[in-house]
Amino acid sequence: MKKILVINGSARKASVSTALCESFLGDKAGFETKTYNAYSLNVKPCCGCGMCGKTVGCCYDDLDEFMADFEQADYLVISTPVYNGSVSAPLKAVTDRFQRYYAMRFDHGIKPAVAKHKKAALIIAAGSKGEGREEIKAMYERMFTVLNTSLESVIFFDSTDKREPDEAAVESVKQEGEYFFNG
Ligand SMILES: Cc1cc2nc3c(=O)[nH]c(=O)nc-3n(C[C@H](O)[C@H](O)[C@H](O)COP(=O)(O)O)c2cc1C
Repeated sequence: MKKILVINGSARKASVSTALCESFLGDKAGFETKTYNAYSLNVKPCCGCGMCGKTVGCCYDDLDEFMADFEQADYLVISTPVYNGSVSAPLKAVTDRFQRYYAMRFDHGIKPAVAKHKKAALIIAAGSKGEGREEIKAMYERMFTVLNTSLESVIFFDSTDKREPDEAAVESVKQEGEYFFNG
């Protein structure tokens, strides 16, 4: 069974990015889906100690289960609000903790650092028009170069300060999800 790992970067109940992520996922019968919320993970931010450059792994063990799920996943779905032009702070902390794979690739010479290839999707909600999309996309594209992961879908819904996704927007996200997983 193909495995989907979802990491959600919003803490809000009425989160637009979370709602669109659910539409993107649709009914995932026939897939094994595991969803994490970055806020619930209470993740320690990377402290730059350099331990992952000396030995494979991380000085913290709080993301061991998450990273094991990541390594096994076939699909990675990241959903996030735009906060000051980037992802929310807990999601940024999770993102930085992928540094162990950068160290595996460049300090330990393991290529690919992540054995199983993943297809990735990004789902972003922004309060203002056009903000954050390119910055967040560029951040993950750069990171994915060492994660054996290809970014194949970006859903961006902006101006949430003034509007909510209407039926047509939700339908188009659903279709994009169907294509992403089954196309
Ligand atoms: C701390 C904070 C920072 C924000 N920074 C931005 C920003 O830089 N650009 C923007 O367009 N919207 C910004 N917003 C608005 C959110 O992106 C917007 O409300 C979005 O819908 C939140 O996503 P969610 O509905 O999935 O929680 C910010 C909101 C908060 C709370």
